[in-house]
Amino acid sequence: MNKANNLQKRKYYIETWGCQMNEHDSEKMSGILESIGYIETNTPKDADLIIFNTCLVRKNAELKVYGNLGHLKTLKNKKPEMLIAVCGCMTQKKEIRDLIKEKYSHVDIVFGTHNIHKLPELIANARQNSRMIIDVWEDSGNIIEGLPAKRKYGFKAFVNVMHGCNNFCTYCIVPYTRGREKSRLPEDILREINELSAQGCKEVTLLGQNVNSYGKNLDKKVSFAQLLRMVNEVKGIERIRFTTSHPKDLSDELILAIKECDKVCEHIHLPFQAGSNKILKAMNRKYSKEHYLNLIEKIKNEIPNIAITTDIIVGFPGETEEDFEETLDVVRKVKFDSAFTFLYSIRKGTPAAKMENQVPEDIKHKRFKRLLDTIYPISLEINQKLKNKVVEVLVEEISKTDKTKVTGRTRTNKVVHFSGDKNLIGKLVKVRITNPKTWTLEGELID
Ligand code: 5AD
Ligand code: SF4
Repeated sequence: MNKANNLQKRKYYIETWGCQMNEHDSEKMSGILESIGYIETNTPKDADLIIFNTCLVRKNAELKVYGNLGHLKTLKNKKPEMLIAVCGCMTQKKEIRDLIKEKYSHVDIVFGTHNIHKLPELIANARQNSRMIIDVWEDSGNIIEGLPAKRKYGFKAFVNVMHGCNNFCTYCIVPYTRGREKSRLPEDILREINELSAQGCKEVTLLGQNVNSYGKNLDKKVSFAQLLRMVNEVKGIERIRFTTSHPKDLSDELILAIKECDKVCEHIHLPFQAGSNKILKAMNRKYSKEHYLNLIEKIKNEIPNIAITTDIIVGFPGETEEDFEETLDVVRKVKFDSAFTFLYSIRKGTPAAKMENQVPEDIKHKRFKRLLDTIYPISLEINQKLKNKVVEVLVEEISKTDKTKVTGRTRTNKVVHFSGDKNLIGKLVKVRITNPKTWTLEGELID
């Protein structure tokens, strides 16, 4: 494509908040936009179309979107022909759409999580209309297949296996924004992975809010374990990852599949959220602390080198000091490789938001710090065992902090930095770990 052509093309900029599901939706929007002639820009002020793909899981993410929308007002005044679109989990809520209408009238398009395929039509409408176009679908129960996606990397890709969630954890907004669980047909998933492999993709991450309940709503039932075994047969794919797993649905059949499928990586992300049975019940998690610990023991026995990561919420309503100690107890017993930790955030519309015994912010913050102080030394202790070990790394990019180094991930999903250049990107290489740290590993390439 020559420069003159590029100059005539309309440019888009997408800002994404939240989970991998959102990241992948943004890749699909990029694919759709490029199929109608747009090109990407990393500079909002150069864009003809700015899209904010939003997250509603915690208040901070929501506030950032409002802040950023406010800033766009000046840009829109200078460049009125530019279109601003907001989509993602936030716009699924009516009161947020009303707020956008009222306070952010410079927004041109509001759409939701269920109708990203309508983007070209919405853009065309917005170009002809000066009023805000709002088109948000409730969950239709259908999955739109065949959308193009412009993936960030050629060698690794997200693949949706299911959409939505039926679990209704009492703190979580996702079931209200992403609708009920719907699994994609295995043949559609396999077709996509075969195409990815033909394009040179080496690693796939199978995505779903609760992948362990994959296939339950299909006419011809297929379990997630069976799906993993099918994906394991795809030639050219060398690594398979999946996220997220729910402890209540993780079956022995799945543990066996992870163990037996050579391409399935030795890493499981298994959120436990809280250690106290009282809090787990109030969260509607449908498992106990004991069940979780047994599950971990089973997984570690079957797959000894597996890395285990988790999500933990601090300060759920009613959490006492004793309850929090139970959370620390799980952390100490399991010894997680790493953990995503969150302060409980009230989400309007969820059952927990109405609970009366909310934990004061200062107590939440103090517990949060104690939690991190418990997690970090364990991560370091686990990583130190890798010193002088040789690991397989899929190289992803030039290191952001040191241009003479590259960054990649082990099968256990640990980030490794080592000397190297851009020719290594997308390759699977062997690296000796020289300096293991809490969050990353330093190493050297082995010829
Ligand atoms: N407050 C804090 N953390 C939350 N999560 C989901 N909802 C909330 C909330 N209201 C966390 C959970 C989940 C992760 C994706 O986000 O730990 O596993
Ligand atoms: Fe939210 Fe629970 Fe569903 Fe995860 S399983 S998306 S935490 S409701």
